[in-house]
Amino acid sequence: AGTLGAAAAQSGRYFGTAIAAGHLNDSTYVATWDREFNSVTAENEMKWGPIEPSRNSFNWGSADQIVNHAVSKGMKVRGHTLVWHAQLPSWINNNMSASDLRSAMTNHITQVMNHYKGKVYAWDVVNEAFADGGSVGSLRSSIFTQKLGNGFIEEAFRAARAADPNVKLCYNDYNIDDANANKTRGVYNMVKDFKARGVPIDCVGLQSHFGNPPSNYQQNIAQFAALGVDVQITELDVGGSGSTQADAYRRVVQACMAVSRCTGITVWGITDKWSWRSGDTPLLFDGNFNKKQAYTAVLDALNGG
Ligand code: G3I
Repeated sequence: AGTLGAAAAQSGRYFGTAIAAGHLNDSTYVATWDREFNSVTAENEMKWGPIEPSRNSFNWGSADQIVNHAVSKGMKVRGHTLVWHAQLPSWINNNMSASDLRSAMTNHITQVMNHYKGKVYAWDVVNEAFADGGSVGSLRSSIFTQKLGNGFIEEAFRAARAADPNVKLCYNDYNIDDANANKTRGVYNMVKDFKARGVPIDCVGLQSHFGNPPSNYQQNIAQFAALGVDVQITELDVGGSGSTQADAYRRVVQACMAVSRCTGITVWGITDKWSWRSGDTPLLFDGNFNKKQAYTAVLDALNGG
């Protein structure tokens, strides 16, 4: 197949991109999105701060723009993200009691999931809860751990399942790409524990913001899949340029293709000029929306090459 989405669809997978509502007035951006991708993640518009700027008062406009366009084109939508320590609204703060924060979290999850019911394929229910560089299983300190304790992750997943029994519920994080890293082991143990105790979880998102993907990346995807969850590559970008970058992209896509429960890949933007990694060129299209070597490598790998 000649486009990323169509090539991925040959094996039942999707190939998505992050989209920012602020660029939807650029016709080349939208045309490239429509031509190449069959899934989307809102880069910022569904995060708690942007979407619930005042308590229980929702600002759906920008996220709806992205979702409605995607649905009209038959694309999948990944919901990103319900509970994250970053980009929180200012009304979530340390003056809140635990029970107040708990009800705010449950209400947020319920309202946002209800609004997008039937349109979203998978939700990143909790994002980036594990600590970097700690011992296995240590969580990042946040208002959620401080007020609700480590059980906030389980609470969020249970609230999400109660809100929508038919959507996939994912845990999403970065630096969980190396099969043996402490952070990876912590997430792995959590998923295993959730599965054993019947806490609802359907998928793990490997963000995959790379310099160089670890050599055991495919093994890592396989070990999560063996727990009985789907794996999705959710925010892929690879620094650098030329053949080194293209080869890294190829390895990432081949690793996903080799594991049947790796169900889709999302790159974190279309064009280098609007990547969050300013000063780098980590995406598949250059600043003029021309296909890079990395694009060709990805397309080949999706086509089985
Ligand atoms: O839109 C506001 C604007 O109104 C305001 O005046 C301006 C001043 O700071 O900020 C603008 O918001 C910025 C927003 O992007 C939209 O452009 C925020 O400052 C900026 O922090 C935000 O960055 C986003 C970042 O998440 C926030 O942590 C990036 O675009 C987005 O790509 C990035 O995405 C994250 C994933 O959600 C989670 N994983 C890591 C990934 C990369 O950091």
